[in-house]
Amino acid sequence: MTYQNIILHYPYSPLGITAPHVAVIQLNRPKVLNALSTDLMKELVNCLNTCDDNPEIHTIVLTGNDKAFAAGADIAEMATSTPIDQIIEQRFKSWTLLGMISKPIIAAVNGFALGGGCELAMSCDLIVAGDTAKFGQPEIKIGTLPGAGGTQRLTRAIGKSKAMWMILSGEMMDAQSALESGLVAKVFPAETLLAEAVEMAKIIATKAPVAIRLAKEAVNKAFETSLKDGMDFERRNFFLTFSSADQKEGMRAFLEKREAIYKGK
Ligand code: HXC
Repeated sequence: MTYQNIILHYPYSPLGITAPHVAVIQLNRPKVLNALSTDLMKELVNCLNTCDDNPEIHTIVLTGNDKAFAAGADIAEMATSTPIDQIIEQRFKSWTLLGMISKPIIAAVNGFALGGGCELAMSCDLIVAGDTAKFGQPEIKIGTLPGAGGTQRLTRAIGKSKAMWMILSGEMMDAQSALESGLVAKVFPAETLLAEAVEMAKIIATKAPVAIRLAKEAVNKAFETSLKDGMDFERRNFFLTFSSADQKEGMRAFLEKREAIYKGK
C-alpha cells in the first residue's frame, strides 16, 4: 500500500546499515506540522497493523520531523464539524485501533507534540524526546478540550496539578520538564534523537518477542485496573512465558553463558 501522509521505513537502513527488526514510521504532512487528519490516522493505523502482522518486525518507532511530531488534530478539517458528523465519521475509531497494536511503539518527538499530537505520543508505549520538543494540550485556546485521552493519560503521566495547569492554560512543557515529570523516558540532542530511538528499539527487538508482548500488556494494564487485578494479570502473563520455547532458551543461554537465540515461540 502507498501512503500519502506517512512514510514507512522498513527495512530501516540509514547510511546503508540496517536496523534489524525495527520499522520507522514517519508522519509526513510537514506543511501543516503533521496535523492529524482523518486520512493520516487511517493510514497510520493501517501501517501499524501491517507492522504488527509482520513477524520480522519486533519494534516500531513513530516520529515526525525536526519542527513537529504533530501539532494536533487537523483544525481545518474539524472546525465546522458537528457532533453528529464526528459520530458518523467515527472520529476516534483509528485511536481505538491504535490501542490494539501488540508490538512496542516508541514515540520519538522533536518539536511540537500538541493536542492530538501529544495524545498520539502518549498512546505509544514510551516517549523519547529531542531537546527541542514541546508538549502541550492547547485545545482550551481554541474553545475545546483534549478528546483523545489527554485529560486521562497526561494526568496519569505527570500528576493532577501539572496536567490540570497544562490543560486549563494551554501552556507547553519543554523536553527537560517532560523528563523530570515522567512524561518522557529520555531526552537526546534533537539531531541524534531518531538514531537514539532506533538504538532503543533495537535493544527491545533482541528480546523474546512473546515476553515483550506480554510485558507490554501487563504494563498497560496498570492504567486500567486496581493494583490487585493488575498483579493477578502480571502473574498470569509471567506464568504464560514459561510455556514459551524462548523462556527455556533465555534461561538456558544465561546458565550456559551465551547469547540466547529467540524464535518468537
Ligand atoms: C491544521 C495546522 C495545525 C493544526 C499548525 N497548522 N497546526 N493546521 N491543524 N493542528 C498549520 C498552520 O495553520 C500553518 O498553515 C502551518 O501549519 C504552520 O503553522 P504556523 O502556525 O504558521 O507555525 P508556527 O507559527 O511555528 O506555530 C506553531 C504552533 C501553531 C504553535 C504549533 O501552529 C499552533 O498553535 N498550532 C495549533 C496547535 C493546536 O491548537 N493543536 C490542537 C488542535 S485540537 P499555513 O497554511 O498558514 O502555512 C486537537 C484535538 C484533538 O488536537 C482531539 C482528538 C483527535
